[in-house]
Amino acid sequence: MNGFYFSCIGCGATFSLSENIYSCSRCGDLIQIEVPIDDVKEKIDLRALRRLPISVWKYAPLLPIADLSKVVTLHEGGTGLHHCRRLGSLLGLEHLYVKNEGENPTGSFKDRGMTVGITRALEMGARSVICASTGNTAASLAAYSAKAGLNRIVLIPSGKIAYGKLAQAIVYGAQIVQIKGNFDEALKLVFEICSRNREIYLLNSVNPFRIEGQKTLAYEVCDQLNRHPDYFIIPVGNAGNISAAWKGFTEYYNLDQIEAKPKMVGVQAEGAAPIAEAVAKRSLTITSINKPETIATAIRIGAPVSWKKALRAIYDSEGTALTVSDEEILEAQSLLARVEGLFVEPASAAPIAALKKLREESYFSKEDYVVCVTTGHGLKDPDVISRLYEKPVEVEAEVSSIERILGLAKTAETLAAQYT
Ligand code: F0G
Repeated sequence: MNGFYFSCIGCGATFSLSENIYSCSRCGDLIQIEVPIDDVKEKIDLRALRRLPISVWKYAPLLPIADLSKVVTLHEGGTGLHHCRRLGSLLGLEHLYVKNEGENPTGSFKDRGMTVGITRALEMGARSVICASTGNTAASLAAYSAKAGLNRIVLIPSGKIAYGKLAQAIVYGAQIVQIKGNFDEALKLVFEICSRNREIYLLNSVNPFRIEGQKTLAYEVCDQLNRHPDYFIIPVGNAGNISAAWKGFTEYYNLDQIEAKPKMVGVQAEGAAPIAEAVAKRSLTITSINKPETIATAIRIGAPVSWKKALRAIYDSEGTALTVSDEEILEAQSLLARVEGLFVEPASAAPIAALKKLREESYFSKEDYVVCVTTGHGLKDPDVISRLYEKPVEVEAEVSSIERILGLAKTAETLAAQYT
């Protein structure tokens, strides 16, 4: 469908989608893509659309890609919305859900944005794509550009990305450059490289096409719940995903698909929390953190590019932001795995850790519909587990040794009693 266009979130300038821009060419602020809401209402049967099986591309009429025959897909989206009854009963919540984005093709939510971003890269005639990454964007970009036949470059902070993600970027054939600096520095370098080499297409979440794919997370949750969540709890790093989800909820609301929008709750790790710190002060700007630190390497970010969109999402929805410690993150990771069978990476456990804190403050009531987003699969970061958990015991290959370890060993008397 036509009628999509870029708009600047700062000065309000508008631009045609045919322009190759990542930010406002007038004032430099962030841009977003506007959906022609009235046109969609008039021309698309959204009720019928909502009944289709969930996937990113079922929402094609709400996405800014004209030629659907050129879509680069690995079948992203359609992830589980798990009703967590056991965790919910521990926390006193009847309607607690986890939207498990680790079920995407490369194991994280990034695939939603990357399928749209890489499709756009082809539309623009790009031959090479690039991103800075704490790991998951790199893995996703590498996979989708392999599928599309594009050259792929990723800049990562040296020694600071989880091994599973690095393994993915390697095997999908990316040119990987480790920089002696953090993610924020890597992203600045990517901007500079793209402005000096206009033929390289930038695929960090500042690219509004990525956000368009990621907003389908919100549509899906509403379609799966058959209503809006009351609270939507999501980890925040570079702040693209919380902005995308808010955009999705706002569009679904404007399209009359939900009756209300959720309160957006952003969760950051204590050592990397510029957004949560701003919200605590009700500030309209953030102060970046020079040396962010956390075990949740995915969100080890001190200068989130989409901070302005994230603050708007939180304030406009009357939500909040909070921090959790590394210890709380690891405890939550273990709890979610042990009571719900969901193994997520540390950054993804942050919303679960936040739940406990918010419940203690009576932030929710028992009947509220609370959705936590777990953004990446636990297998992405096996090192955390092998470092922190005890190694399994080793015994001789014989029944008696195994029974002794399991506490099943029987005395002569109990054995005799069984047979009499
Ligand atoms: N959770 C995971 C697992 C992530 O990989 C990221 C971001 C986030 C949460 C935060 O999302 O940045 O949109 O606020 N990872 C990026 C990357 C930065 O490079 O993979 P955000």
